[in-house]
Amino acid sequence: MHLRIATQDDLTDLLHFEQAVVEAERPFNKHIKEKKATYYDLPSLINDINSQLLVLEEKGEIIATGYIQIRPSKKSLSHQEHGYLGFMFVLPEYRGRGFNRLVMDALIGWGKAQGIDVFYLDVYAENQAAINAYKKLGFEPSLVEMKLECA
Ligand SMILES: CC(C)(COP(=O)(O)OP(=O)(O)OC[C@H]1O[C@@H](n2cnc3c(N)ncnc32)[C@H](O)[C@@H]1OP(=O)(O)O)[C@@H](O)C(=O)NCCC(=O)NCCS
Repeated sequence: MHLRIATQDDLTDLLHFEQAVVEAERPFNKHIKEKKATYYDLPSLINDINSQLLVLEEKGEIIATGYIQIRPSKKSLSHQEHGYLGFMFVLPEYRGRGFNRLVMDALIGWGKAQGIDVFYLDVYAENQAAINAYKKLGFEPSLVEMKLECA
């Protein structure tokens, strides 16, 4: 296993992984576009000094991803910035073996080294596997997004 920072050369692979996250989340939100649903600005997550995008490789192939981005926090909060985590994905055949934890521990470690001590992420309430994985790392539910569908 080799954990490393993603580069622009990984873009093609990362675009496939992005679509895999979209497909994984489709059952949780019927409003995700049928075609051309994208989540991330991957080139900027790779280049920006305020973010780190990591890939975990096995035998030269990417098997897991995740990023952290330092974002400005709401003015009402006591911290000015927080670390936002996203793009957590592990290929199905590698799940449940602690690989997501490996990636997230490294991302949080990088955030701490930048002086960040509060971390957030978004997850669908029905994505129990992901919620379990995040809880194991110490994350707790915070703000709950509510949705009304009138159509
Ligand atoms: C969420 C995801 C990244 C977790 O990756 P992972 O490598 O399996 O996670 P880990 O092995 O580090 O999991 C740690 C904990 O997660 C929980 N977990 C993992 N897979 C689970 C599953 N299928 N069902 C229930 N809990 C699960 C367990 O509590 C596990 O701890 P344990 O092994 O001590 O029981 C992975 O399931 C995934 O890629 N899902 C599809 C994409 C996705 O939904 N991403 C999240 C977007 S917010």
